[in-house]
Amino acid sequence: MPSAPVYIATPFYYAAPMAQLIDGKATAAAVRVAVKTEIAEFQRTHGYAPGLATVLVGDDAASATYVRGKRKACAEVGVASFPHELPAQTTQADLLALVCKLNAQSEVHGILVQLPLPKHIDSDSIIETVDPAKDVDGLHPLSQARLVQGREGMRPCTPLGVMRLLDDTGVDLKGARAVVAGRSNLVGKPIAFMLLERHATVTMCHSRTRDLAAEVANADVLIAAIGRAQMIRGAWIKPGSVVIDVGINRQSDGKLVGDVEFAAACERAAFITPVPGGVGPMTIAMLMQNTLTAARRQLTVRS
Ligand code: GUN
Repeated sequence: MPSAPVYIATPFYYAAPMAQLIDGKATAAAVRVAVKTEIAEFQRTHGYAPGLATVLVGDDAASATYVRGKRKACAEVGVASFPHELPAQTTQADLLALVCKLNAQSEVHGILVQLPLPKHIDSDSIIETVDPAKDVDGLHPLSQARLVQGREGMRPCTPLGVMRLLDDTGVDLKGARAVVAGRSNLVGKPIAFMLLERHATVTMCHSRTRDLAAEVANADVLIAAIGRAQMIRGAWIKPGSVVIDVGINRQSDGKLVGDVEFAAACERAAFITPVPGGVGPMTIAMLMQNTLTAARRQLTVRS
């Protein structure tokens, strides 16, 4: 008689598919190395380095940290840095005068006025005063109009970084359903038009969108730039999609989180950016690239 089969209870682990992490830190480092090489070549050919003026008004700690990072990157890649720090009480007229002075300085090829500015300053008129040729932030109305019309011009740094990360995943944007959550001039609106330029089918969502979950569930590509911690739930994410999280939100425990519920989203997305270490490092890398681009364009305009 054959003996009765013995059933051994083995533990059963269900391994949910996990998204591949998009390493913004590594990509930003690669962009910086490439820009550094190109800047060395620019310097050899023309005898001077591209120059970036950074303007910090007031004592907002987060802005000071960002600007410090931008100045450090200048030193690392060989951009000549022109730092300007003004007190919080600086008047609109004084700030306008500084921007006009920087517009006229030929060794300054890019001007970055760190936002947000103190409340008594009209940011729009400051941004409009920056020479569009030196608008490395891509925030001048002329730069944004060019983007909307699909013409060449300066593009904002964070959206440029997002596009680079998307391209590195190999996702085919042509015809893809792209959902942009957030409609700021700095991120949401320019990203939407840059995706449109690449032939994606773009839906823009915002705080008044009726059914954000349903919109997100349709997204082959999701760009989260709402500025609210983990507002986009992991269960909304379309399986196999690419998720780019632009949000940086500090929780009460001091931890940084994005606009997407990261752990749950990892179980559905094919690719996802972590926070921190995703989009964040790309902004400064693309600012260096924009400064070089601005210096090159000013060369052709002058000659
Ligand atoms: N504040 C937060 N991000 C940015 C940026 O990309 N440019 C400027 N000027 N200010 C910012």
